[in-house]
Amino acid sequence: MLFDHANLKTKMAELGLATLVGGSRLSMLWSITILQGANRSYNMAEIGVYRGGSAFVISEALKQAKIIEPTFYMVDTFTGMPFVSEKDEGFHHVGEFGDLDYNKVKFSLEGIRENNKVFKGLLKPDFINHAPDLKYSFVHIDVDVYQSVIECLEYFWPRMMIGGMILLDDPHMSSCPGALKALNDFLPLVKDGSVSFKLPTRQAFLMRIK
Ligand SMILES: C[S@@+](CC[C@H](N)C(=O)[O-])C[C@H]1O[C@@H](n2cnc3c(N)ncnc32)[C@H](O)[C@@H]1O
Repeated sequence: MLFDHANLKTKMAELGLATLVGGSRLSMLWSITILQGANRSYNMAEIGVYRGGSAFVISEALKQAKIIEPTFYMVDTFTGMPFVSEKDEGFHHVGEFGDLDYNKVKFSLEGIRENNKVFKGLLKPDFINHAPDLKYSFVHIDVDVYQSVIECLEYFWPRMMIGGMILLDDPHMSSCPGALKALNDFLPLVKDGSVSFKLPTRQAFLMRIK
């Protein structure tokens, strides 16, 4: 179950999926998925799927490690960025990342393993209103903008198991200033119950410790 980037890229392309996430970050995703997948009675989620590549890597890691039980929810509008604010400093626009074939992404991702569920809609209110109230071992957040990152953290944090991990793709990217502001606004609220650091890949890592 070693991370094999070349092989994953080939399989991804065969399924018609693609990613904006680079190899070292995908390798981190792969490793954390397998690590957290040991908590088999908890669920996983990705918010910000776009053309499905990072969700594919999480799904393949679960499949290859034979981690069958966790439901893996993949949430996106699949019509592009729903909103931006002044906190995003003009780096993003509504409708960005709307260039995809939703049916193809859904079909490919749900075909990888039985407990893969693609959800089309906003995290808030659509997913929050429709998803069962579950606990999570691992959540990958790749939504780029302030409002979406804050909404993801507020929703998932209370639902993380002790030892649960949230990996944020964006806060240390120069193109996502809103994501860093959202993380910085959120961290004081969970200070005593969390550890947080910047990974060498420049992803941000947040773990619930109580
Ligand atoms: C950078 S793309 C995700 C890239 C993807 N992880 C990959 O592997 O390339 C960001 C995505 O976040 C989605 N998004 C942003 N805010 C959202 C929200 N509040 N609810 C649902 N999807 C959202 C956008 O529609 C967009 O597809």
